Amino acid sequence: MKALVLTSLSGVDALAVQNSPEPVAKAGQTIVRVLAGGMNFADIMTTKGGYPGTPQPPLIVGREFAGIEESTGRRVMGYAQWAAFAEKTSAHSNMLWPIPDGWSDEQAAAFPVNYFTAYLGYWQAGMTLPAATGKNHRVLIHAVAGGVGTAAVQIGQLLGVDMYGTSSSEEKLSRVKPLGLQHPINYKQHDYEEVVKNLTHGEGVDAVFEMLGGEHTAKSTRCLRDFGRVIQYGTATGKPPQLDLRAMYAKSASVQGLWLTYLSQKPEIMEPAWRQLSAWISEGKLTPQIGGVFPLDRAVEAYKLLQDGKNYGKVVLKIA
Ligand SMILES: NC(=O)c1ccc[n+]([C@@H]2O[C@H](COP(=O)([O-])OP(=O)(O)OC[C@H]3O[C@@H](n4cnc5c(N)ncnc54)[C@H](OP(=O)(O)O)[C@@H]3O)[C@@H](O)[C@H]2O)c1
Repeated sequence: MKALVLTSLSGVDALAVQNSPEPVAKAGQTIVRVLAGGMNFADIMTTKGGYPGTPQPPLIVGREFAGIEESTGRRVMGYAQWAAFAEKTSAHSNMLWPIPDGWSDEQAAAFPVNYFTAYLGYWQAGMTLPAATGKNHRVLIHAVAGGVGTAAVQIGQLLGVDMYGTSSSEEKLSRVKPLGLQHPINYKQHDYEEVVKNLTHGEGVDAVFEMLGGEHTAKSTRCLRDFGRVIQYGTATGKPPQLDLRAMYAKSASVQGLWLTYLSQKPEIMEPAWRQLSAWISEGKLTPQIGGVFPLDRAVEAYKLLQDGKNYGKVVLKIA
């Protein structure tokens, strides 16, 4: 079968489409004929050896896919840690969900990582329940026009959250606004810490979805109101998160981690999340945002788009 193989840990140019042996399903797994793959920032990190738990190359890459389960003929979308960008993958049965009626393979491949991560971000921030104060929760979403970011805006709108979102580009922000983003912030033009402070009359937000790392963890903490939480779920800058302990003490604020790889192993967390997400899907309320579709043999181009931060929403690979 054709597969996208990482040949060394030297970055995206080390990817090549190669012929590989077909996978064999182990206990708890099932074979899926893959039609589309969803690209994640983690795929970029993987090419440089920066993603925890990844085996050494040569390695078939890809963490998310849509296709047809061979044993049942069922259309499924799935989540994996690697080996998804190939004509066939062996998938864990508990990491497969039925493709919603009317969704294309590309839309389905753009769903699992973004929507579960965004939903669990709200859950960890205590925002899947109504605010005790009766007022709307407030969240600051970094990379709001990206894969997880656009999912967070759609979910935030359904939860009635007041959303502040950052992006480098006016053009990207103009595409997110119609999804329900109330307060777009172009961080190339404005300091988001200042904007949040001004727009919230000095109060701050209840949570920040933070995936940049470096100084942004500390800056994001300073955007919080009392008892606020920075949900740290990535380090796209490549720098270790800096803490501002003073800001944490001053507001009883916290920084807490979120890692889907880990949470996905907990059915007691994933099943209620899917119940809510699938209910919204059946009401037509969630629409994965796809910024680009590339054939498998142009995968390196797709990786570079994401690496350079040029993508809007999800980048999808057409596998078959
Ligand atoms: N913990 C988890 O379980 C989990 C799950 C999914 C994703 N993540 C993390 O969430 C983040 C978003 O993932 P995604 O797949 O949805 O990607 P994405 O947001 O679609 O793409 C990355 C975006 O980040 C922004 N960005 C800011 N600084 C960047 C930099 N130094 N290099 C590249 N991009 C930069 C860019 O948007 P602007 O130009 O608009 O700033 C870019 O478009 C990543 O850090 C990823 O690792 C974590």
